[in-house]
Amino acid sequence: MIILKTQDEIEVMAKASKLVAETLQALKREVRPGVATEELDRLAEEFIRARGGVPAFKGYRNYPKTLCASVNDEVVHGIPSKRVLKEGDIVGLDLGAIVDGFYGDSAVTVPVGAIHSRTAELLRVTEEALYKGIEQAIVGYRLSDISHAIQRHAETAGFSVVTDFVGHGIGRQLHEEPQIPNYGKPGQGPRLQVGMVLAIEPMINVGGSAVRVLEDQWTAVTRDGSLSAHFEHTIAIQASGPPRILTKL
Ligand code: MF3
Ligand code: CO
Repeated sequence: MIILKTQDEIEVMAKASKLVAETLQALKREVRPGVATEELDRLAEEFIRARGGVPAFKGYRNYPKTLCASVNDEVVHGIPSKRVLKEGDIVGLDLGAIVDGFYGDSAVTVPVGAIHSRTAELLRVTEEALYKGIEQAIVGYRLSDISHAIQRHAETAGFSVVTDFVGHGIGRQLHEEPQIPNYGKPGQGPRLQVGMVLAIEPMINVGGSAVRVLEDQWTAVTRDGSLSAHFEHTIAIQASGPPRILTKL
């Protein structure tokens, strides 16, 4: 069952989402060669708590940290550690926060110093794919219209879409129905309605789409070792026109 949110509930979700967006903005400014991913995690937790929020991921299925920091061939769910970022890396920063009982969830992938042009293209195309999906998040459209637009944009650029992880509904829970694959035929699944709040999150690889999870039980990496990028926004379906992007400042 998809839980529709009232306008008042969406305003609370907007607060949680804004806090996530502000935290990501602060983290982006700290990404540079020499920074350890656990320093970014500490900053994220302090930033969220100082503003009255609660980290959404810490303790979720025993996840140990506030932030997911996924470097290079890490797709999602990289656990912040003493690993130091170096020039030419890319790092996915995925963050959730709870404010007054509601969740916000967003991710960006950012360069560490100068990166190769094909790597920059991966970041650009993945963010564009997210926006192509968001453009389809219109009342009366079907859920898989979002999925299809993401896949089409990624594959047109010669990249592949990760199929093992999906976007999701979000509200009083981090993960609610529906699941939102980043691939599929258009015109399938439920019709989009006012009050739906969705976390759309394409994960796109330079090489093949296959991933595996490391011994730590969390970190997902590409099987072929190719680079991967991830962008995510929490959005609310509007009565007409394009959605409200709650995690955009
Ligand atoms: N954005 C990811 C998701 O929605 C982050 C989850 S990390 C976890 O699934 F630790 F909370 F699982
Ligand atoms: Co998510």
